[in-house]
This record gives sequence, C-alpha cells and structure tokens, in this order.
Amino acid sequence: MPFTVFVTRHLTPDAEEKLNAFCIAEYWPEKTPPPYQVLLEKTQKVDGLISMLTDPIDKKIIEGAKNLKVISQVAVGVDNIDLKAAKARKIPVGHTPDLLTDATADLAFALILGAARRLGEAIDYARDGQWQTWSLTNLLGADVHGRTLGIIGMGRIGQAVARRAAGFEMKILYYNRSRVSEIETELGASYVSLDELLKSADIISLHVPLNKESKGLIGAEQFKLMKEDAILVNTARGEVVDTDALMTALKSNQIGYAALDVTDPEPLPNTHELYQLPNVIITPHIGSATRTTRSAMAILAVDNLIAGLENQPLPKAVVSSES
Ligand code: DGY
Repeated sequence: MPFTVFVTRHLTPDAEEKLNAFCIAEYWPEKTPPPYQVLLEKTQKVDGLISMLTDPIDKKIIEGAKNLKVISQVAVGVDNIDLKAAKARKIPVGHTPDLLTDATADLAFALILGAARRLGEAIDYARDGQWQTWSLTNLLGADVHGRTLGIIGMGRIGQAVARRAAGFEMKILYYNRSRVSEIETELGASYVSLDELLKSADIISLHVPLNKESKGLIGAEQFKLMKEDAILVNTARGEVVDTDALMTALKSNQIGYAALDVTDPEPLPNTHELYQLPNVIITPHIGSATRTTRSAMAILAVDNLIAGLENQPLPKAVVSSES
C-alpha cells in the first residue's frame, strides 16, 4: 500500500510532482488553513503530514494520529507544533532552516531602510497627489549608515542581518543566549545585556525563535528603555512583542517607528489601530517570500517527509526519531 499524506496547503508545482511520485497526497485546496476539526480528522488516518506555520499541530492532533510517521513543516520556526508530544511518540519533525536565511535577512534590511526613510509614507504621498514640488524639509527620515544596530537573537538570520549592516558601516550590538565569537571577530559586533542594547541601539531587529522565554520579550518596560527615535523591526514572530505596549509606545512617541513583518494577532485584521499610525510599516509575513527560497523550502519539506516515511534520518530535523 502506498503511503498517504495530508498537505495543509498547495506546494510549488515541482514539490508536488516529487511528492505525488512517491505517495498519495491530499492537498487542502483553500488559501486559508484547514479548520482545526478538519486537521484533526485528516491527520488521524495518514502516514505523513506537511504543515505550515499557521496550523496548530497540538498534543491532541499528534496523539490522535495513530499512523503518523513524520511531520514536515514548511518553515524554520516550529512554534505551532507540540514538539514534546511528537518526541513522546517518536515522530520525527522536519523544518526548513538555512535556505531562507538570506531572504529573511534581506527583508529585515528592507524594513530597516523602509522605516528609517519613511518609505510607506513617501509612496502614499506621491500616489495621493501630494507631491507638488521638491522640499528641503518634507518627509525627513533617519540615517541608517553609521548608526547603531541592536540585534536580538544572533542565530543564522541575526548573523546575516549583521553582515548586511556591516556594509552600511553600522555599529553592531547583540544580545543572545550565548556569545557568538565568530561574529565578534568578523564584524566587531559587541555582546551586551538586553537592557544595554535597548538603551543604546538606534535600530533594534528581532531574530529570536518564539518560545516561553521570548514570548512578550519586548513589552512596556523594554519600550521605556529605548531611545525616543528608536526603530523596532520584527521579522521573527509577532508574539515576541506585546502589541498593546507597542501601540502605546508608538502613540506616545516613546519610540520612533516600527516595521513589522509578523504581528500578534496574525494576520492583523485591517481594522486594527496599528494600521492608523503613521509611524508603522506592516508587511504580511513575507520574510522568506522569494520565488527561489519558497521553492527550495517546499522541496526540502518534501525531502524531509520522504525520509521520515522511509524511516531514514530527515535532512533537517528539529526532532529526530531517536530523540
Ligand atoms: C519561518 O520559516 O519560520 C518563517 O517565519 C516563514 O518562512
């Protein structure tokens, strides 16, 4: 009997071709995620699951999926999956690190530049017919080159952002669970406490995974420490930042600007007050959204899945079958 697999959204054509040649795959046909009840029912019977970061793969789903041999997530972050439950059942979990590092770092840098130079406002200004002449004092932004960048989370993506910042002659401060000596030697980055970083950085970029420690890491107390023209950039996970505290900080000019590719809640409803603020840029979680990166992520997810079904080590695992 061929293996059966549930895929919670369509993949890229080449990834689907590879998957279909190996097993019987059912793809959730909608643009929005399958409702929880559908996810629960579909996973009960299949041998493999390909999930997206929007699917809550919780204990109930994992325990109910009696035939499940592998979970393969099309993302690097796996905070939507109960890894403890997967480990307990010895179900390997794959993800797609590395190949999205540069695309995500590029977007973080685009947001840094976009916020500092007020690109959202400037584009609207031109489009709305307000551009009547050149002006010495209109739409003035902040310099990026030569400023101080504070990177919270110096993993693969944090390091890639730091390398880009070096090209802009920025001073780099970072806060991480442990020191990353290569980046200190290579770029002269300085390891500092979180409070020190928040006080000293002109631009703060978040690159931590979402977990118990990082949830709400940036809240009211942290905004108080930031410079009044500080720019906060989040391409990690929305829940790392307390949204209400961010609203207050932006409205009271406690900080200068925020650029968010991820939000809490996500998606952020278009009625949310954050969209009304002039000093915010919001993009819809597109950090890794380049054609080549998304295509490579889909292929790697299929490779992880196939390896799991064949009882082989996954090319990229967060949980291996031995753990
Ligand atoms: C991830 O991979 O975790 C990103 O958030 C989406 O690419």
